Amino acid sequence: MTTAWWKKSTVYQIYPKSFNDTTGNGVGDIPGIIEKLDYLKKLGIDVIWLSPVYDSPQEDNGYDIRNYRMIDELFGSMEDMDRLLAEAHSRDLKIVMDLVVNHTSDEHPWFVESKSSKDNPYRDYYIWKDGKADGGPPTNWGSIFSGSAWKYDEQTDQYYLHLFAEKQPDLNWENPKMRKDVYNMMNFWLDKGIDGFRMDVINFISKDQAYPDGEMKSGEKYGNPGPYFVNGPRIHEFLQEMHGEVLSGRDVMTVGEMPGAEPEDAKVYTDPDNQELDMIFTFEHMSLDEEGGDKWNIKPLDLRDLKENFEKWQTSLHGTGWNSLYWNNHDQPRIVSRFGDDGAYREKSAKMLATCLHMMQGTPYIYQGEEIGMTNVHFEDLNDYQDIETLNMYKEKSELGWSHERIMEAIYTKGRDNARTPMQWDGSKNSGFTGGTPWLPVNDNYKSINAESALQNKDSIFYYYQKLISLRKGWDIITSGSFKLLMRESLNVFAYQRENSEGILVVLCNFSNEEQRLEEEITTNIKNASPLISNENNFKYRELQPFEGSVYYIHKE
Ligand code: NOJ
Repeated sequence: MTTAWWKKSTVYQIYPKSFNDTTGNGVGDIPGIIEKLDYLKKLGIDVIWLSPVYDSPQEDNGYDIRNYRMIDELFGSMEDMDRLLAEAHSRDLKIVMDLVVNHTSDEHPWFVESKSSKDNPYRDYYIWKDGKADGGPPTNWGSIFSGSAWKYDEQTDQYYLHLFAEKQPDLNWENPKMRKDVYNMMNFWLDKGIDGFRMDVINFISKDQAYPDGEMKSGEKYGNPGPYFVNGPRIHEFLQEMHGEVLSGRDVMTVGEMPGAEPEDAKVYTDPDNQELDMIFTFEHMSLDEEGGDKWNIKPLDLRDLKENFEKWQTSLHGTGWNSLYWNNHDQPRIVSRFGDDGAYREKSAKMLATCLHMMQGTPYIYQGEEIGMTNVHFEDLNDYQDIETLNMYKEKSELGWSHERIMEAIYTKGRDNARTPMQWDGSKNSGFTGGTPWLPVNDNYKSINAESALQNKDSIFYYYQKLISLRKGWDIITSGSFKLLMRESLNVFAYQRENSEGILVVLCNFSNEEQRLEEEITTNIKNASPLISNENNFKYRELQPFEGSVYYIHKE
């Protein structure tokens, strides 16, 4: 059997709004992406995942779609999109689009119809319910973007469900006609020649039809609805149906975004025998620095938790399903600021983090700017933030009595705008991102951190990523070897080995700014080998230098 192409691929995520603006309106666009394809080709990636470019009121930066078959004029036209596909394909780059079908915009014609009357044929495309006897919302569910998950509509005296913003009503996947319309739309894009989909919160689409109240925690205003829609009762049936109607027989790639999915779920979703998805995005490793399931309630990361978590995913899916590997995306803070050191060791720790992730089994994802070590931002003024999640959270936490300082600290550490500041192309005004006023301020470190200077420096993070990407292509052990965690108890060293019939790959990563002693057995193993890749010139086989990341290959006799 031939290996699926996406097992040897590295994906690069583009957040179009912040990538490259060619019109001067302060917002990135599709022609801007085309302009940078050679840059991406040079990095060596294989696949581009495009965050949504569909027609949208942009309440949630395009994750609220008004028309699935139209390009938002902010980003260009369908001709631009066709040109992007052709230009990418001519460079042997694939394009995967975002598929947002847990919800639409409230301005989507289906919702406009649905809202117009109880007997409209589209009424059942969304989730409408009567209020409780006291007239309050049908359940106590909280929205992921704060407030109730239900919005009252006066005209028809019912509530509709929105797990995210009010302007993002949830689609009703119980309705076969709606599902058919979604499948037709997916086929439209695949017939155009796109190479797959990243599916937004796809494990939320099947809701428990009993709609029970969620458990209330003390100090919280709303109940937790998670158990009633995360990996819901008909999710596998829906995904298998989608596979049959859309994906089957096409050589494309699918990745499902799945908050709340555990390895046992992931096995089912990604086992090729089940014909559902190729891989999923887990959230587990991104939640280890939070307390009590609240992303804003931050605690320091215990490296042992991170190691165990990766071990669990690497070993559970080995031989059955497939992992996706990521540190960053448009919803997460910048990894070098989070688990690395964005001060003195910025370059070193960015390379170490890349090493740690890219030597595992799975398909790695790089988020724009990660390849040059972009960092979190620190806007003093709340008004500089644009993200709806951040702004709603500020209001809700203030009402709960959190101080301004505490909330701002949480935003600095976890806010999604950290990832969304414009791409830093060069040291010119607005980092070469736009000739106009950027929709979100540029990080003020752009003069020293930018792509142009990275390209000029052969030791840059950019070239390090380039090397990691090419190693994956050349070394089968990276794609197929088994995984074993080493130095489990260490608080600072993340070490593991990969193994196949021919050899052993030893991956050593120091997550601290101090030297770390290696276990004797590791030292013995690596002492006659030279590193395949390393961010350190000054090797000492007994210890790792601050933020060192080194990989050794030992050939079996
Ligand atoms: C997950 C997306 O990644 C995020 O950006 C978005 O806000 C929500 N889903 C809602 O679509």
